[in-house]
Amino acid sequence: MTLHPQATQYLNSVSTKGPEFLTNQKAEGQADQVPIVSDEVGHMLQMLCSLTQPKRVLELGSGIGYSTHWLLLGWPGAKITSVDANQQRLDAAAAYLAESGGLDQVDLVCQWAENYVEQSSESFDLIFLDSTKKDYPTLLKQCYRLLRTNGLLVADNIFYQGKLLVNKDTLSPKEQNNIALMDRFNKQAADHPGLDSQFFALGDGLLIARKIT
Ligand SMILES: C[S@@+](CC[C@H](N)C(=O)[O-])C[C@H]1O[C@@H](n2cnc3c(N)ncnc32)[C@H](O)[C@@H]1O
Repeated sequence: MTLHPQATQYLNSVSTKGPEFLTNQKAEGQADQVPIVSDEVGHMLQMLCSLTQPKRVLELGSGIGYSTHWLLLGWPGAKITSVDANQQRLDAAAAYLAESGGLDQVDLVCQWAENYVEQSSESFDLIFLDSTKKDYPTLLKQCYRLLRTNGLLVADNIFYQGKLLVNKDTLSPKEQNNIALMDRFNKQAADHPGLDSQFFALGDGLLIARKIT
C-alpha cells in the first residue's frame, strides 16, 4: 500500500532511477508477482548503507534479491547474508546477482529465518527484516541479539499492507490476528530499552531502529 500516491509518484519521477539491471529486475519481479520493496524503501536502504557503510548485513527474506541490490548499491563493500526459505527464489536471486556482479558479496542461505537467527552467533551492522510479517515479534529478540551496538534494524511493511490503519472490523479473523502481531512488534520495538526506534510512513511503513545498548 502506498500512503501518499501523488507524493510517491512525484518523488519517483524526480528520483534517480538506479542502474538498468535494477529497473529490469523490478519489471520482471512485478510481472511474475514476486514481492519486492517499494522504490522509496529501496532508496532508503541505499542511503542507510551509504551513510553507515556496514561491514556485515543480514537480510531476512531475500526474495529474488531486489532489496539485496539496493543494499549493495549503497555500500558495495558490504558482506551480506541473505536468508529465504524458498530455494526457487534464491536461485533467481543468485542469477540476478551474478548478472550485476554482486554475487561475491552475498551469501544466500536457504533456511527458515527463525532457525537462522536462533542458531547464528555472528554480529551484524545492519539487519533488514522482510520475511513473513506475523513472525516479526518473535524475530525481534534474536535480531537485537545479533546486532552490534549502533547497528540498525530496518523492518518493512509495518503497516501490514495498510491494513493496520483501516477499520479492523472489515477484516477476516486471520488478518485481524496478523495485524495484532504487527502492532505488537511495533510497540515492542518502540518500548525496547536497547533500541532507539523511529517509524516512517514510507512505502508500506518502515521501522529504523538503532541498537543503543
Ligand atoms: C516480501 S518477500 C522479500 C522481498 C525482498 N526483500 C525484496 O524486496 O526483493 C518475503 C520473502 O520472505 C520469504 N520468507 C517468508 N517467511 C520466511 C521465513 N519464515 N523464513 C525465511 N524466509 C521466509 C519468502 O519466501 C519471500 O521470498
